[in-house]
Amino acid sequence: MQTTQVDVRHGLINFGIGQPGFSILPTEIIQKSAAHCFGRLDPDQINYGAEQGDELFRESLAQFLSPRYGFSVQRDELFVTTGNSAAIDMVCAMFTRPGDTVFIEEPTYFLALSIFQVDYALNVVPIPVDEQGMNMAVFEAELAKHQPKFVYTTPTYHNPTGYTLSQARRERLHDLAQSHDFLIIADEVYQMLGYEADQPPPPAMAQFTAGNKVISLSSFSKILAPGLRLGWAQAGPELMERFVTFGKIASGGSANHMGSGIARSAIELGLQAEFLDEIKALYRERIQVMEDALRTHLPADVHWEKPAGGFFFWLKLPDGMSATQLSAAADAHDIGFVPGPKCSNINGLDQYIRLSFAFYENDQIIEGCKRLGKLFHS
Ligand SMILES: Cc1ncc(COP(=O)(O)O)c(C=O)c1O
Repeated sequence: MQTTQVDVRHGLINFGIGQPGFSILPTEIIQKSAAHCFGRLDPDQINYGAEQGDELFRESLAQFLSPRYGFSVQRDELFVTTGNSAAIDMVCAMFTRPGDTVFIEEPTYFLALSIFQVDYALNVVPIPVDEQGMNMAVFEAELAKHQPKFVYTTPTYHNPTGYTLSQARRERLHDLAQSHDFLIIADEVYQMLGYEADQPPPPAMAQFTAGNKVISLSSFSKILAPGLRLGWAQAGPELMERFVTFGKIASGGSANHMGSGIARSAIELGLQAEFLDEIKALYRERIQVMEDALRTHLPADVHWEKPAGGFFFWLKLPDGMSATQLSAAADAHDIGFVPGPKCSNINGLDQYIRLSFAFYENDQIIEGCKRLGKLFHS
């Protein structure tokens, strides 16, 4: 039986896995929500579904998002997707042709990179990130040389660094998108996964959708269950028109009508809200466990910032140490992580590694950090 797409061979602790662990996946909530959804089934729910996605689901989702995004979300701005991976693929199909230029972050979410480079043959220009998100001086210098179709960014609790784009940079980026006519594809999958109540992130990039330059993407993968294959794109009216007339949607209707019915029930029953609060408390604790274990077991010249949200620690290795070499030796210690160069389209960042605390429970996090410590000292 295939249980997962990731490497979970017996004995290995693979901090490279950036998805919720099995003990977190909410089988009971999905059972209750599906029973509620199917208990009130009418023919419309087993029809194709409106191109934009079921209106009642979008209304529930808008109400769920508004208090969590920090502004009022309208159902007419929401479009049902089958998750962010599929939505990224869709925006590439809609807005690019092979050889077009897109800007990405350096580092970036490595699986998006393969959609851009391998699947769509795009010319990818990396923009370095720091603690405040994308370096806007470099961005503007690259903008003087290229006309990107879009910039792909994970503005909040970035994968892999955990950094958050400041509000000032968000505004600057949006001004540049208006003046230089490019789109901002904001992957906001971690926006609602902030763990420090006293340090909320800036409002989602979806705050700018009215200008028709921002497409905000998010998904139920990190806040409920990846297997639902359900997400949403948020966009202003001009861009929404592109989504609802996209060929496969015009032909097939809602991207995930049944899944959206189950999620609507989860929201209406209050289960989604409860679960989000529960996992936020759990991840907050895991971060502290990983933070303490890393401080105990790793050499003092490994550096990182304790993340305030998202799924990842981003570690800077001591001078002269290579993430690629460390990664090659890791398997023998039954430990795994993502080496920095995997998140770079220019094979950079060999002094960094990404660790996720989302997949493992506290005792395994501690054991994994011990193994990591041995690897560093080997
Ligand atoms: C930044 C980012 N985007 C997208 C995804 C995948 O999203 P989905 O499951 O909605 O396809 C992930 C999952 O790791 C991610 O970290």
